[in-house]
Amino acid sequence: MVTKTLNYFPVAIKNLKVNTILDFDIFIQTSNKIVLFRKQNLPFTEETLNNLAKNKVITIFVSEDDREKIDDYCHSIENTNNTNISNDCFTAPFDNPENLEKYYKTYLDYYPIEKVNLLPGSRINFNVYKKSDLDVELFVGPDKQNNLPGIIPEDIHNAQSAIAIHKEDIPLYKEYINNLSLELSKSKKDSSALKYSILRENSKFIIKDIFEDPSSGETIQKAGDLVVTLTDTILENQNNFSNLLKITTHDYYTYTHSLNVCSLSIGLGTELKLRRDPDLLELGLGALLHDLGKCTIDLRILNKPGKLTGDEFKEIQSHVTAASALLTSSNTEIPKNSLVTILQHHEKMSGKGYPYKLNKDQIHINGRIGAIVDFYDALTTERPYKKAFSPFQAFQLLSEFQDDYDKKLIKMFIVMLGKQV
Ligand SMILES: [Fe+2]
Repeated sequence: MVTKTLNYFPVAIKNLKVNTILDFDIFIQTSNKIVLFRKQNLPFTEETLNNLAKNKVITIFVSEDDREKIDDYCHSIENTNNTNISNDCFTAPFDNPENLEKYYKTYLDYYPIEKVNLLPGSRINFNVYKKSDLDVELFVGPDKQNNLPGIIPEDIHNAQSAIAIHKEDIPLYKEYINNLSLELSKSKKDSSALKYSILRENSKFIIKDIFEDPSSGETIQKAGDLVVTLTDTILENQNNFSNLLKITTHDYYTYTHSLNVCSLSIGLGTELKLRRDPDLLELGLGALLHDLGKCTIDLRILNKPGKLTGDEFKEIQSHVTAASALLTSSNTEIPKNSLVTILQHHEKMSGKGYPYKLNKDQIHINGRIGAIVDFYDALTTERPYKKAFSPFQAFQLLSEFQDDYDKKLIKMFIVMLGKQV
């Protein structure tokens, strides 16, 4: 009989897909021991995932003897669902230079849109595509030869993949949602979901414009106007911050992230009973522009589907000071408490953050809020190289890293989001 080795290797639970059979034993670590958690050939269900989450487990262990089995398992998931990509299993498609080129081209040429905005039966004069990380496939569009519009099919909202348009068609799509907005204002039907999704889409376009031309001189003015709209929407009803958040987890564009961080920061600011003017508006402005410096970074590094080298990581880190350089050279002065949100959103209470390694009281409340919501939104967004964490898993990770963040704010943040999820 072959004796099993005592060696185990860690696997993040985000790499396991719910409703699959695991043909290897799963072990977990309790204090300093590795113990069997689940025998092989049993289904990995939502309940298993919840059990692990309840026990605050985010990493399981697999015996070295089963390494081949877990590799096969990862590849089988990769083949069935190209969008479920994680660190350990899914970087492989991007090892191929041709695929890497396809990925960058798809990322740069296409713009993901909110499919809620496409009303079944409505007419469009632009093409709509189903988008994955490597490919796009035409979903519906006009018949240009016969001069006929495209008609949005009834099943559009069931589409599993991301829906996108070509970047050249953005003006046509903007016209479509403006008309939709006008019709909504005349209609008596309850269309609040659509109203918020149009607001999200228009906000993302404003942020996109700001990021594409940050030194236009109007950046702070444009961003400030948007923050007033977003803040008033949230003040009207505190739960509205969640109506402004992304719907899909695989929309990982910087402008979507900026909108989420802004909405979540204002949401948390209202929990803290901050005044609208100037506190919430300054916090919101900083949150909206927190990653502005990323527009100075090579897109191939910023969106690299895999591990970064040390130099690449340093370049990404430079986005913090790059943003402040861009903003302080602009014609309009940015409020000090907005700049502080930008400069401190990667600082950690433990002193292990960047760029200034500040700790505890040295970090302004706006920087502390920015750090928590930025981390949360990054965790719950899917990237080509990692799956998205569920909000619950993200709460766990936040609690696990609580020495890095303001504990009182983490609690408030979890309670605030807990009302939504
Ligand atoms: Fe950042």
